[in-house]
Amino acid sequence: MSGGTIPLLLVCLCLMFGSVQNQGSSQDAFIIQYLERRLAQMEERLSLCEQNTLSLTQKTFDLSSEVRGCQSTLSSFRSEVKTQMDSVSARVDRVEGELEYLENKIPTQSDIEMEEALLEQQIKVAELEQIKTKAKLNVENDCSTALSQIKSLKIVKKAGDPNGSWFKDPSEGSAKVYLLSGFRNNTVLEFSSLENFTKTSSLPDKVMQLPFSWRGTGHVVYNGFLYYHKADTPNQILKVDLLNGTVVDSTLLPGAGRLPVYSLNPNTYLDMAVDELGLWVIHADLEYEGNLVITKLDKGTLGIEYTWDTQCRSRDAEGAFLMCGTLYVVYNTRFGGRSTIQCLYDIHDTIHSNESPVIFFPKRYTSHSSIHYHPGDKQLYAWDDGYQTVYKVETRSNDKTAAE
Ligand SMILES: *[C@@H]1O[C@H](CO)[C@@H](O)[C@H](O)[C@H]1NC(C)=O
Ligand SMILES: *[C@@H]1O[C@H](CO)[C@@H](O)[C@H](O)[C@H]1NC(C)=O
Ligand SMILES: *[C@@H]1O[C@H](CO)[C@@H](O)[C@H](O)[C@H]1NC(C)=O
Ligand SMILES: *[C@@H]1O[C@H](CO)[C@@H](O)[C@H](O)[C@H]1NC(C)=O
Repeated sequence: MSGGTIPLLLVCLCLMFGSVQNQGSSQDAFIIQYLERRLAQMEERLSLCEQNTLSLTQKTFDLSSEVRGCQSTLSSFRSEVKTQMDSVSARVDRVEGELEYLENKIPTQSDIEMEEALLEQQIKVAELEQIKTKAKLNVENDCSTALSQIKSLKIVKKAGDPNGSWFKDPSEGSAKVYLLSGFRNNTVLEFSSLENFTKTSSLPDKVMQLPFSWRGTGHVVYNGFLYYHKADTPNQILKVDLLNGTVVDSTLLPGAGRLPVYSLNPNTYLDMAVDELGLWVIHADLEYEGNLVITKLDKGTLGIEYTWDTQCRSRDAEGAFLMCGTLYVVYNTRFGGRSTIQCLYDIHDTIHSNESPVIFFPKRYTSHSSIHYHPGDKQLYAWDDGYQTVYKVETRSNDKTAAE
């Protein structure tokens, strides 16, 4: 608005009127009145105009502050959306992880194929067994194999508690499968064969009640006898005849019972194992900084034959097994992850940890509560968070004379 020019115009008009009045005619007076009226009208309009301008400025100001307000809400909106996007993408990540976990849990086509392979292998093992019995003298001392790889995983079944153990009786000619669910119970389920065990519908062929509950997940069956840690004792091992459920022998393992064998399985204090050489028990000993100690037991009398202190630590371990007198210790994290063998101890001192690289389990999230090696099958029977799984292993010849 040209606010400056209008007052100037008014001054000019006033001067003009002054000079006109001086002439004193009535016509002039009329004109003056007329002009004065017009002037008043113009002033009115002018003030109106100024008011309008003022209100318009006010409105513009209001509008711009409104716009500014909108902008700030918009930007806060945007940051809110961004944080929501972030949380959504984190959730997507988590779901992806869970999916992978589930996918790994569901038996896939390749697992089914593997089952056939498993049967084939069992036939081969049976054939091999026959050949072996023919050349028994040679076979009995033939224990020069070392683990080179854990090849494949097969999920056989989902049964029982998240924690437990299952295994086959590794004595020659036996196909029986045993399932001991939970880390404290006295009910043993027996299946006549792996085939029957695998059938989801099949009931156990025998349900046995032990005279005393077990503790942990470290039991084994050998030649129809169950060897296990008796509940409510620090270190007592029982040998029970599974035909009639009677305790035939018992022993106390010196140094055991004060520490869980594996820090990731805090309920297991004694872990029994069977390999080509016989019956073993593994425990963690406070006197050796919590490292694992292996003891060879006489499977007949439970007498202690010999004890070896290993350098393998119990911390972050979840299980272990023996193969040809070599202890292989499996480590993981307490959140579950990919299991690895990172420590081994050979009683013959022919294999050394530093010459064997870390051995990985097949890629999968796992949390093993027990792992049992079967010397006939050369397979590992594991309990993975309520799933019963089988790992095939690859061995290489470990020539003792060459290694020395
Ligand atoms: C013991 O095991 C049996 C069969 O597996 C089960 O039915 C029972 O609930 C278990 N008992 C306890 C105390 O966990
Ligand atoms: C499976 O179980 C059934 C019934 O208990 C038995 O008759 C059959 O012989 C078993 N199969 C094998 C291969 O043991
Ligand atoms: C249980 O069976 C064994 C043989 O397997 C026998 O020596 C023992 O006397 C039996 N015990 C009972 C209580 O029947
Ligand atoms: C299974 O054992 C793990 C530790 O090894 C423990 O955290 C978990 O609570 C156990 N699960 C059950 C159902 O007892």
